Amino acid sequence: MKTIFSGIQPSGTLTLGNYLGAIQQFVQLQEDHHCYFCIVDEHAITVPQERLTLRNNIRSLAALYLASGIDHNKATLFVQSEVPAHTQLGWMLQSISYMGELERMTQFKDKSTGKEAVSSGLLTYPSLMAADILLYNTDIVPVGDDQKQHLELTRNLAQRFNNRFNDIFTVPEVRIPKVGARIMSLQEPTKKMSKSDSNEKGFISMLDTPKKIEKKIKSAVTDSEGIVKFDKENKPGVSNLLTIHAICSGKSIAELEEAYAGKGYGDFKQGVADAVIALLQPIQERYEELLQSEELDTILDEGAEKASLHANKMVAKAKKAMGLGRVKKKK
Ligand code: TYM
Repeated sequence: MKTIFSGIQPSGTLTLGNYLGAIQQFVQLQEDHHCYFCIVDEHAITVPQERLTLRNNIRSLAALYLASGIDHNKATLFVQSEVPAHTQLGWMLQSISYMGELERMTQFKDKSTGKEAVSSGLLTYPSLMAADILLYNTDIVPVGDDQKQHLELTRNLAQRFNNRFNDIFTVPEVRIPKVGARIMSLQEPTKKMSKSDSNEKGFISMLDTPKKIEKKIKSAVTDSEGIVKFDKENKPGVSNLLTIHAICSGKSIAELEEAYAGKGYGDFKQGVADAVIALLQPIQERYEELLQSEELDTILDEGAEKASLHANKMVAKAKKAMGLGRVKKKK
């Protein structure tokens, strides 16, 4: 059985983009793969975080994973900082990462350009991400389109380590969904939908009320043509809404184009909003219950324990391969 690893940062409430690009794949993959899903809090602190908000976001993200259908009997769900092996291997991989390749990462450029105080953690972020993945002999990493470059670096670091020291790491493959790999902002449909968007109308949070969802979709930017047709280049707003509608309802884009032929954007947007609400409402109800439960803590405790078992063995192998730790005198 192949092993899957993926992670999500607990930096604010998840967006519909996170759900459609990542979590929805995770739920399907857990059926026939050996899965690890992580709440990557150590990645989140590479930009300033408010202490209590971060701690609440970690719990909230765990509840959202489970409410979305991640089953702790099928997958291991855990918090990154509760498994110290991540930072241990992260440091080792940082030591073989080059400044040039880290500086070339578009996520680093996007998050650092124009900022006065940029943490070194933001630069070395991809080495820690590589550690997350390589600790578990991961075969496949399901992510949205924006993580492709980080995965390429992970593969390079695995190969570099294997060639330089010892062949201990599996070189992972990236898995990007065919539809939903990059859900766009509702206000600027040529930009990725992001939880850090300063314009709240640009993204749908997984915890937005039905009323809010409807309002945001109704004010989504489209065009003046009035034709519901998928054409990413010329009709990015409509194409994005079609993608969202298709994944939320399970219908194909062609089916939807046909259903809305001759109808205006008003009807179309109402249809998109209904599909999003129908998908998110049951998740939100389960989320509220889980958030209050002690079961959530038990699941995360057990997850960290299970993950540590595997991760500690990998760290021991990596240390030995690199020559870390003293030679002990034989008795
Ligand atoms: P993060 O927390 O930004 O996003 C979590 C996942 O959601 C996907 N995603 C999207 N997919 C489609 N459309 C969007 N608009 C959209 N926005 C986000 C992301 O691609 C991602 O799959 N570096 C990672 C976290 C990470 C990780 C890992 C991932 C740390 N270690 C190891 C995989 C494996 C990140 O910042 O994701």
